[in-house]
Amino acid sequence: MASASSAWRGHPTLASATTTTPGATESSVALDESNPYLAGPYAPIHTEIEASDLVVIGEIPRDLDGVYLRNGPNPQFAPVGRYHWFDGDGMVHSMHFHDGQATYRNRWVRTDAFERERANGDVQWVGIMEPLASNPRDMPLKDSSNTDLVYFNGDVLSLFYLCGEAYALDPVTLATRGQRGFGGRLSAHAKVDQHTGELLFFDYGPRPPYLRYGVAGPDGRVTHTAEIDLPGPRLPHDMAITERHSILMDLPLVADPEAAKAGRHKLMFDDSMPARYGVIPRHGAGDTIKWFEAEPCYVYHSVNAWEEGDEIVMDLCRVTKPEPRADAAGPMAKLLSYLRLDAHLYRYRFNLRTGATHEEFLDDDNTEFPSIDLSRLGRPNRYVYNVHISQENTLLFDGIVKYDVTTGTDTRWSCGPGRWASESPFAPRRNATADDDGYLVSFVYDQLEDRSEVVILDAADIEAGPVGRVLLPQRVPIGFHATWVPGWQLAT
Ligand SMILES: [Fe+2]
Repeated sequence: MASASSAWRGHPTLASATTTTPGATESSVALDESNPYLAGPYAPIHTEIEASDLVVIGEIPRDLDGVYLRNGPNPQFAPVGRYHWFDGDGMVHSMHFHDGQATYRNRWVRTDAFERERANGDVQWVGIMEPLASNPRDMPLKDSSNTDLVYFNGDVLSLFYLCGEAYALDPVTLATRGQRGFGGRLSAHAKVDQHTGELLFFDYGPRPPYLRYGVAGPDGRVTHTAEIDLPGPRLPHDMAITERHSILMDLPLVADPEAAKAGRHKLMFDDSMPARYGVIPRHGAGDTIKWFEAEPCYVYHSVNAWEEGDEIVMDLCRVTKPEPRADAAGPMAKLLSYLRLDAHLYRYRFNLRTGATHEEFLDDDNTEFPSIDLSRLGRPNRYVYNVHISQENTLLFDGIVKYDVTTGTDTRWSCGPGRWASESPFAPRRNATADDDGYLVSFVYDQLEDRSEVVILDAADIEAGPVGRVLLPQRVPIGFHATWVPGWQLAT
């Protein structure tokens, strides 16, 4: 790959597939002024606050006990060059619920890059849509830690989709405790098996081994690693686990060889290649992985997986055609088109005995950012909570869909006009008896009133609307992934 130079440590993403390198003929559009991902619901904020005694409409249930946390990009300084939504410095917003009270906090993740820019008083990195040659040599791609949050071993780990350091945060104060080493960098979407306390993770890169997989014990020490043989570099975004196996992805979104010859980075969806899912025993060596082929697609997020006899069942949100719309002309239109997800709830069955793959749609609506009861990760779940993707030009969530994957039915809640939800994790009651015995929580931004709130829904009846709304003293920009930490799991 001629173009796999410094920039490719950045793994040009789905959304940066139109990125050009110096000398390329594709027009460079100055996106800063018109970039919708720096304006309106996405505009960064610059204050870090803690607020209690908040206005509540309805009530905060006394059995809602824990912390709702959500990560997202929030650039500390005005970006230089073209800005991609995925570039911004990670900022975590949280709402701590206890005994009928709620406290809101927000803090940037104190990454090394954040601290260096803060000390410098200005930007030191350009983002993934720009040539990265001017970036600091020791960190060609800014490690922004803005993507995902995983609660593990008493820390909330902030993770980065392009593989970065795992930054540990205090789950209540959001103070950055420092980096946690797992024998290398981690991708976003590491998984915790609450039954064993283990962390399952992966990372990927432009040079062999293109994919690595690992396990850390409940004390944080790495107990197992495996190098996974792939035919070339790939862009996996998520993985899945079962009780005894992990599932890794090799999907047909690859570097365009023609563009690479011309010195350009461009991704292409090669639908002549299958999607491949690799099932590896949890502590298995790399050569024990068993690959299952399926119809070509791309996957951002798995929902869950579990074992049924000889079969692995895996539910996920599947993108049938990971390409910009045909009428998207020019870099900005393509960027916007890429960032609008078009995904459907989907089920695979991989037969470990016969090697057969079975696949089917579970829904034909456009939903993503799935949440389940995290205590069921790797075991069968009944309910899945996705956000519904709106028809807007930018990625906005206009409601929540609760799927019952046992009966094949769903129920829905709409945020209302001009109101946009966040990933909405399930917050179980203590000693919950079902995976909808609890609440859903979501930051909702009201674009008409320009303010944010946290909405609390009864997970057993989301159609009834919020049981409580907690109004916030500042706007929460639209962001990425969220999690819920039950109060009884918080380290004391
Ligand atoms: Fe993600």
